[in-house]
Amino acid sequence: MPELRILFSENEIAVRVRQLAEQIKQEYQSRIIDVLCILKGSFVFAADLIRQLDVPVRVHFIQVSSYSSTESTGTVRFHFSSSSRLEHCDVLIVEDILDTGVTLQFLLEHISLQRPSTLRTCVLFDKESKRRVDVKPDFRGFQIEDKFVVGYGLDHNELYRNLPHLAVLL
Ligand code: IMP
Ligand code: MG
Repeated sequence: MPELRILFSENEIAVRVRQLAEQIKQEYQSRIIDVLCILKGSFVFAADLIRQLDVPVRVHFIQVSSYSSTESTGTVRFHFSSSSRLEHCDVLIVEDILDTGVTLQFLLEHISLQRPSTLRTCVLFDKESKRRVDVKPDFRGFQIEDKFVVGYGLDHNELYRNLPHLAVLL
C-alpha cells in the first residue's frame, strides 16, 4: 500500500464543515435548499454538511466522472442522476474537490438548463492552481496545493473513501 500523509484531521474538517453550514444558512435563510450531491466523492461531505443545516433541505444525487486514476481526462461523462425537477428551486451543488474546474463547469451548464431559481456551489477542497476553466465556488472549505489527496470520500482507484481525514498519497 502507498504511504499517506495527513493534511487535515477529522476534527479540522468537522470545524470547517460547521462554518460552511453557517455561511450557507445565512445565505438561504429559511428557503428550501435543493442539495445536489456529486457522486461518488461528495457523499461523505454532503452527509456531514446537511446534518449541520437545520433548515429545510432536499437531497439529490448525480454521478459524473472526468478522472482516470490520478489525472483528469478533460471530458466529463454522466453515469447516474436521481435529481427530479429542479426548476424554480434553490440548488446548491455540493462537490468534494475542485481541480481543473471542468466537472463543475459542466454541471453548472447542465443544471442551468433546468432553470433553477438560484444555482450555487459548495466545494470542500480547492486546488486553485490547477484551474483550466474560469469557475469559482460560492462556498469553499480549504484551498490545497496541487497534490493528489484521498479520504473523507475521495478515492484513488476506489480505495480510501472511508478515511475520516484527508491525506496526501505519497
Ligand atoms: P476537475 O473536473 O478537474 O475539477 O476534477 C474534479 C473531480 O476530479 C472531483 O470531483 C474528483 O472526483 C476528482 N479529483 C480531483 N482531484 C482529486 C484528488 O486529489 N483526489 C481524488 N479525486 C480528485
Ligand atoms: Mg467528484
